[in-house]
Amino acid sequence: MKKILVTGALGQIGSELVMKLREIYGANNVVATDIREADNEVVTSGPFEILNVLEANKMADIAKRHQVDTIMHLAALLSATAEANPQLAWNINMGGLMNALEVAREEHLQFFTPSSIGAFGPSTPKDNTPQDTLQRPTTMYGVNKVAGELLCDYYFAKFGVDTRGVRFPGLISYVAPPGGGTTDYAVEIYYEALRNKKYTSFIGKGTYMDMMYMPDAIDAIIRLMETDAGRLIHRNAFNVSAMSVAPEHFEAAIKKHIPEFTLQYKVDPLRQKIAESWPNSIDTTAAKQEWGFTTRYDLEKMTADMLEKLSVKLTKN
Ligand SMILES: NC(=O)c1ccc[n+]([C@@H]2O[C@H](COP(=O)([O-])OP(=O)(O)OC[C@H]3O[C@@H](n4cnc5c(N)ncnc54)[C@H](O)[C@@H]3O)[C@@H](O)[C@H]2O)c1
Repeated sequence: MKKILVTGALGQIGSELVMKLREIYGANNVVATDIREADNEVVTSGPFEILNVLEANKMADIAKRHQVDTIMHLAALLSATAEANPQLAWNINMGGLMNALEVAREEHLQFFTPSSIGAFGPSTPKDNTPQDTLQRPTTMYGVNKVAGELLCDYYFAKFGVDTRGVRFPGLISYVAPPGGGTTDYAVEIYYEALRNKKYTSFIGKGTYMDMMYMPDAIDAIIRLMETDAGRLIHRNAFNVSAMSVAPEHFEAAIKKHIPEFTLQYKVDPLRQKIAESWPNSIDTTAAKQEWGFTTRYDLEKMTADMLEKLSVKLTKN
């Protein structure tokens, strides 16, 4: 990885990934793109271009013009948004991925795209979900993610494109807001704890899902991409996670810093149904063995850092 094109770069992951990549590989060697522009350091700190991932020719043109050797394809509609508009989700999630894979094939680029715990479904073993297991998701997002994993494997097997991916759990971060996922409550809870000392969760008590703090997610992407290809048995996509948690665990962790904090519940049936179709906890052994996946943040450490960083951010705004 020397020169990298990132799609969907202004989203929750891209906002932090682009800045980290620019720090490591040099500002001019990370070309950020998104369908929209924003008042954001991703736009001002290095090359930025407007790109709708459905515009295949423009994507190829940007890749050629900047002579990139890697594409990180992040643009997508997330689980709750996709479920509200499944046809649009299919078009963007599959059409965008196909276009990005074609650019990678034609230009001989290394390729990364994230899958998700949403690629699992109700018939998947719920606890310690294996790397290789039943994947029959019941959401459009999940259908897209499974098809995407298979398509990436196909491009590797058929055309030799160096495709790699991870199944991210819910990602928690303070830089950019989450983009319409089922685990968004785990970000909102920190904002509301600082603003109002209370939060109403749209996910029910006792609903376990995997989560991970954004710095660990960014490190995972870079570590996987930098791993010698000969070490990889799996490619698309590796289970990764840092914790298996339910809303009441966030409540307890936040209370250690803000004792007055209270958590209430008003369950959203759509997102609760999605959450219940996903695993409680996933097994990350393959990622650990094949490319040394590791995390630095557990719930306690993440909560302390989130509250500290977010309170600085909210005071500034
Ligand atoms: N954030 C998470 O918790 C999480 C978990 C698992 C997997 N993922 C996956 O990671 C990837 C990135 O997720 P994110 O959280 O950063 O998403 P996000 O919704 O925060 O950001 C997506 C970005 O894509 C852009 N976009 C939307 N449609 C586009 C189009 N047609 N062309 C170009 N750009 C477009 C949006 O403007 C946005 O900036 C997605 O594939 C998502 O499924 C995310």
